Amino acid sequence: MRTPEEEAAAGAFRLAMGRLAQGVCVVATTAGGHDHALTANTVTSVSLDPLLLLVCVETDARFHDAVREAGVFGVSVLAADQRAAADWFATPGRPLPGQLDRVAHHRGDLGVPLLDDALATFECAVRDIHPAGDHSIVVAEVRVSALGRSTRPALVHFRGAYSALT
Ligand SMILES: Cc1cc2nc3c(=O)[nH]c(=O)nc-3n(C[C@H](O)[C@H](O)[C@H](O)COP(=O)(O)O)c2cc1C
Repeated sequence: MRTPEEEAAAGAFRLAMGRLAQGVCVVATTAGGHDHALTANTVTSVSLDPLLLLVCVETDARFHDAVREAGVFGVSVLAADQRAAADWFATPGRPLPGQLDRVAHHRGDLGVPLLDDALATFECAVRDIHPAGDHSIVVAEVRVSALGRSTRPALVHFRGAYSALT
């Protein structure tokens, strides 16, 4: 239970963080016979040697335990016209079975789900999972990086809303 002061601090943090414009991705994996995916704006490049990226995953998210189990995941960088996918994979309570059916996708070399029309994709193998408050920092080796077919505007999250960046 947070005190009113802690609530106020969290609100200020959220508002200020909202001014850090971030690209939007869908991270996805397969575990327990189901595809798991979620919208994430915390994907960050970490290292060039070796190739590493990270994503911060809420411990309550279904993807959290799934990615630990699978050990691999895909990252799809969304274009502005993929806003519907961003909304869908951030919808609490959406059914797990078939959640990828409404989005055109394919399997990468590691078998991970990747969105067909993404601006770029990465196929990753989990290297470390660091607990960090109500999230875990998932650090992963990038096994495959690929560019999408077109250079459409990017989907960007800024001040709590989506916009397009050309
Ligand atoms: C723009 C945006 C960015 C998000 N970024 C993250 C993120 O980086 N990590 C995370 O765990 N959840 C993030 N979320 C929230 C998850 O997408 C959302 O809670 C999702 O429903 C979790 O999947 P689940 O319902 O299968 O547990 C983000 C949501 C939005 C709208």
